[in-house]
Amino acid sequence: MPAASPVSSAINAASQAFDVRPLEGKVGAEIVGLDLSRPLNDADFARVHQAHLDYHVVIFRDQHITPQQQIDFSRRFGILQIHVLKQFLLANHPEIFIVSNIVENGQPVGLGDAGKYWHSDLSYKELPSLGSMLYAQELPSEGGDTLFADMHRAWDTLPQALRDAVEGKVAVHSYTARYAEGKNAASWRPTLTGEQLSQVAEVTHPVVRTHPETGRKGLFVSEGFTTRIVGLPEDESRALLDQLYAHSTRPENVYRHHWQPDDLVFWDNRSLIHLATGCPPELRRKLLRTTIQGDASF
Ligand code: SIN
Repeated sequence: MPAASPVSSAINAASQAFDVRPLEGKVGAEIVGLDLSRPLNDADFARVHQAHLDYHVVIFRDQHITPQQQIDFSRRFGILQIHVLKQFLLANHPEIFIVSNIVENGQPVGLGDAGKYWHSDLSYKELPSLGSMLYAQELPSEGGDTLFADMHRAWDTLPQALRDAVEGKVAVHSYTARYAEGKNAASWRPTLTGEQLSQVAEVTHPVVRTHPETGRKGLFVSEGFTTRIVGLPEDESRALLDQLYAHSTRPENVYRHHWQPDDLVFWDNRSLIHLATGCPPELRRKLLRTTIQGDASF
């Protein structure tokens, strides 16, 4: 199995006392007592890395970190990916993508409709994302939750007929297929330039993917970016994908994250798909995202 290990770095820092507390259900753990504004030594980092693999989404509570500290922590896991929508990158920190519904002086400060369809971040790239870190800056008093669906469990529980139908197949992932869809899309999503379009050319990935670090199989399709299964007539492909989406996002397969102030949430895009549930438009919501590049899928 190709190795996908985090970037190694021998950091000489004092150990921190922290707890990894699994959430109820099969996905998710809280990490409590760890201060990400301090460098993590290798033993502490290894515990965090293992928790990320075991629980697929880890929630660091009560963090007070700068953009550079978020970038530095993210880089412990790999190379950071720069989002194609350059206008929503944080000034002087292009590694950070702003997710926000706030409009200031007539200009959106971030992508306001990010994540409105189930997806795995950057699955439209040859090297899709290993994981994403989203750090809360401003949260609405109502709504704004993020849902996570466990794609290993989706595969493990998939009826045999569907398993047989998809095993060995590949699917097309496209950034542009849904790009301009949805209410207010035009205001959030400007026309892509030729240069931007060249960065998001369609790619294919296996419908059933193997996690490069744990070896677990998982479904790797989502309504956000997957457009068709290669080699099937359009209607068959559509029907099959719809069944996979419905199965993956059944309530028992989903963790709902209700954001608390100063949460930093780090999920594994190789194991989960996620969805932003949205909030009333008059309530402000702003989060900062880093996205770590993963391996070629297999
Ligand atoms: C995203 O898809 O990265 C955004 C998720 C969210 O805003 O909850």
